[in-house]
Amino acid sequence: MSTQIIDGKKIAESVRLEWRVRAEKLAQLGIKPGLAVIIVGDNAASAIYVRNKVKACSDIGIYSEVHSFPETANQNEVLTCIQTLNNNPHIHGILVQLPLPAHFENNRIITAIAIEKDVDGFHFYNVGALVTGNTIFSPCTPYGVMVMLQRNLINVEGQHAVVVGRSNIVGKPMAMMLLEQGATVTICSSKTRDLSQFTRSADILIVAIGKPRLITAEMVKPGAVVIDVGINRLADGKLCGDVDFESVSGTAGYLSPVPGGVGPMTITMLLCNTILAAERAQAGVRVSYSK
Ligand code: GUN
Repeated sequence: MSTQIIDGKKIAESVRLEWRVRAEKLAQLGIKPGLAVIIVGDNAASAIYVRNKVKACSDIGIYSEVHSFPETANQNEVLTCIQTLNNNPHIHGILVQLPLPAHFENNRIITAIAIEKDVDGFHFYNVGALVTGNTIFSPCTPYGVMVMLQRNLINVEGQHAVVVGRSNIVGKPMAMMLLEQGATVTICSSKTRDLSQFTRSADILIVAIGKPRLITAEMVKPGAVVIDVGINRLADGKLCGDVDFESVSGTAGYLSPVPGGVGPMTITMLLCNTILAAERAQAGVRVSYSK
C-alpha cells in the first residue's frame, strides 16, 4: 500500500496566506489584530512555543505582547493581568500558556479570560459551545487536524474515528469535532485494555497520548488515515511522534509526520482564531449570552 504523507507545513502555509488577506482587510479599516500571551515559570518547551507564536504573529500581521511571570508569581497577579487585557480594545486574543505552576488553579485562570478573547477555546463556556455544536473558537490543535483532513479531501462522515488520548487540549475537543462532522467516534486512553482492538478498527486514527512510537503497523487498518499529534523528545534530542512512522508507512493510506505534521497547524489555527476575534470585535458581534 502506498502511503500519502500529509504535509502539515505546506497546508499551514496555504491557510496562512488566506488569513493574511483577512488581516490585511482589517488593517485597511485601521485595525491590527492583537494577541497577548501569558507565560508563568521557566518551562523550556513553553518558552520555545511562545517564541514561535510571537514570530508567527509578526509574520502574518498580528500585534503580539508577552507577559512573563516568574515561577513564584502569585495567582492574583496573573488574574489582574488577565482582567486588564480583557478590557484592552487592542487585544483581541488572550492565551495562557500551559502548564501553569502547581500552585495555580488552572480553571480559575482560564475562566478569567473573556469568552470572546479565549482564542484557545478552553473556557468552560467555549467548551460547552463546542460540545453543543455552537462553536465560538475551535481549540487550535484539533482544529488544525480537521483542516488537514479537509485539505486532503478526507471525508469524515460515517467513518469510524478513533482518538487515542483524552486531554482537554486535544483528545476531548478532537472527539467532539469529529462527532459534529458525522463520524462515529471512539475515545481511548492510557487506561484502555487491548488498545489495538480499537485502533485496528479505525478508518481515521488520531493519536495524542504522549508515548513515543506507540502505534505500529499491526495496530493500523490497511488504508486508514493516521494523524500523529504526539511530540516527544528522545534521549538523543530528536523529536518523534506517538506513531512509529517507519512501521506504519506502507500500511496507512495517509500519514502525518512528526515534525512537519500537526505542529505547524496548531500555531496557524491560533493565528486564524486571533484574526477571527478581531473581525468579530470590528463587526460588533456578540458571542456570549453570559453578560
Ligand atoms: N500547552 C500545550 N498546548 C497548548 C495550547 O494549545 N494552548 C496553551 N495555552 N497551552 C498549551
